[in-house]
Amino acid sequence: MRVLDLGCGSGLDLASWGIVASDEVTGVDIDKNRLAAAQLRFPTRTYQLCPGECLPFQAASFDRVISSVALPYMNIQKTLSEICRVLVPGGALSFSLHSPSFTFAELLYNAFPRPIPMLFRLYVMANGLWFHCTGRTAGFLRRRTESFQTERGMRIALHRAGFENLVFSRTVGPDGVRFFVEANCSYRARFAGRSCRHDLLRTRATSC
Ligand SMILES: C[S@@+](CC[C@H](N)C(=O)[O-])C[C@H]1O[C@@H](n2cnc3c(N)ncnc32)[C@H](O)[C@@H]1O
Repeated sequence: MRVLDLGCGSGLDLASWGIVASDEVTGVDIDKNRLAAAQLRFPTRTYQLCPGECLPFQAASFDRVISSVALPYMNIQKTLSEICRVLVPGGALSFSLHSPSFTFAELLYNAFPRPIPMLFRLYVMANGLWFHCTGRTAGFLRRRTESFQTERGMRIALHRAGFENLVFSRTVGPDGVRFFVEANCSYRARFAGRSCRHDLLRTRATSC
């Protein structure tokens, strides 16, 4: 199976996600130091520096996409449509997310009383509420994106991007409630998708 680990960080063994040694894993991230650490740890895997919002892969390049707590740091609607494009029709997406309690804990225990971190955390909370209502996220001063996610917002975002067969589950860990989502890219959405490069050419965005 061809697997994309989106926002792979320093690399995870992925066994808990059902990935076995014979699977062909590609990891992407925007942090080159983490990618270098991942490559050292897993020399047989392929790692590439790129944002989740604009993936440098042909359509239908992967059978499965996995993302462990990385979508909260991305523009979710752009990333989901890119995931659908690079998945084969019916391909599986599995990911974990931050719940609102993670953001509240960050605000209370890590940001308070420093003004700039508190301002950023307030933006994350507002962005999470916006996501809950619309299934869309907004960037902070066009530089960084972060939000918390709710099941309602995620359902809206996944349906809009063309995913189906949604399954939600939760676990409680040391950093609060984390929730897991499984979905499949619908056959129809796969053919409606187009590469982010079209948008990039139009808007002269710099990533990718
Ligand atoms: C909380 S870490 C999770 C790393 C890894 N998946 C894990 O579970 O250990 C979030 C990761 O997402 C990456 N990231 C943030 N924004 C990204 C983006 N727009 N595109 C790709 N990766 C991104 C970060 O560099 C970071 O490595």
